[in-house]
Amino acid sequence: MSNSSDSHVRSLFADRIGGEEYGLSNEIYKFEKIKRARQAAERENPDRLLINLGVGENDEMAAPSVRAALTHEASQPENRGYADNGIDEFKAAAASFMSAAYGVDIDPDSEVNHSIGSKPALAMLPMAFINPGDVTLMTVPGYPVAGTHTAYLGGEVHKMPLLAENGFLPDLESIPADILKRAKMMVLNYPNSPTGAIATEGWFKDVIEFALQNKITIVHDAAHGLLSFEQAPLSFLAVDGAREVGVEVHSLSKGFNMIGWRIGWVCGNSTVISAFADIKDNSDSGQFIPIQKAAAVALGDASIYQDVQVKYRRRLGKLVTVLNEAGFDCKMPGGTYFLYAKSPTGAGDSVNFASAEDATNHLISEAGILTVPWDDAGSFLRFSATYDANGESEEDELMKLLGTRLTALGLRF
Ligand SMILES: Cc1ncc(COP(=O)(O)O)c(C=O)c1O
Repeated sequence: MSNSSDSHVRSLFADRIGGEEYGLSNEIYKFEKIKRARQAAERENPDRLLINLGVGENDEMAAPSVRAALTHEASQPENRGYADNGIDEFKAAAASFMSAAYGVDIDPDSEVNHSIGSKPALAMLPMAFINPGDVTLMTVPGYPVAGTHTAYLGGEVHKMPLLAENGFLPDLESIPADILKRAKMMVLNYPNSPTGAIATEGWFKDVIEFALQNKITIVHDAAHGLLSFEQAPLSFLAVDGAREVGVEVHSLSKGFNMIGWRIGWVCGNSTVISAFADIKDNSDSGQFIPIQKAAAVALGDASIYQDVQVKYRRRLGKLVTVLNEAGFDCKMPGGTYFLYAKSPTGAGDSVNFASAEDATNHLISEAGILTVPWDDAGSFLRFSATYDANGESEEDELMKLLGTRLTALGLRF
């Protein structure tokens, strides 16, 4: 029965998800491999504390004031219905926040639209631009969602490597002319996940010039925007001409400890916002109004994101010290809660790593240290500062343990 029902539906699957071969590949994806290696390590060493630096999610709940607002608003009958393209109160809060946090003036009526987190916004934006054969320029490493949807639409992804020698900014001049002719969209993300690099106003100016010259729209993913350490948070939209060429995607996930709440927005070019709103209106019915209202409370309280910023800056600083003592060569990232460090090439006298993935496996199995490998543009390990620790003394204890375990491995670089 299950076989015939499987073959019935399987023969109907679209090519974009693999057609009849959907789910049959033996390829195991990176995060699944990490999960399996972690499970094996925990089975073999049940009493060893796992130092989990692999998580990419904030380790704290949303602020009490925000949770209280949600609780209150959830009991108000007028908040019960479809939210469609969002309530005015959220749009106004997003506009005021853009002005206070980034110095950017946004018209709440025409230049902002909420989204159920930034991930769905990045999934929907290609629908506004990509016809079969069109190209989206995406960075590697990077957050791949807009590229996946570009491919679903019959478009192509051109990968722009983020290299240490270029400050983890893509080299725009190296994009081949035939690709540029077909390119319609470029997705950028600063502060950058996973490299932690930040962009400058001058570089954004170059991007705008490039977009105008080559007729490309820019989607700037500012999901980590508030986690900026080297400079005050910088919006792409703060740069002259940005609104002519693109939009910026924001999220309350990282900066406000609201990952599970699923709330963000797209702002910038009003024509793109209106296309996005149309596509969104045909895809979902909006985020629950109490969540929008609670998010508006969060956006009005700068102390929330300032505290988050202080905490992750402190934790990243400690990570840098411990990793450098163990032989890594890393410095404080410009932003995000990730530290992206060149992967070791081996451990002890006889173990060699062919990739960051090899190094990750060794760290998990031999030392109970969980990280995320990136082998897209050089071999790097991503250490996340979102580990579980209650207060500074627990952080210090964990960092001490990390240092002891790393040193015992005798890593080579
Ligand atoms: C660079 C980047 N963009 C977007 C997202 C999606 O965030 P959310 O959908 O929670 O707003 C993430 C989350 O990991 C991210 O790292």
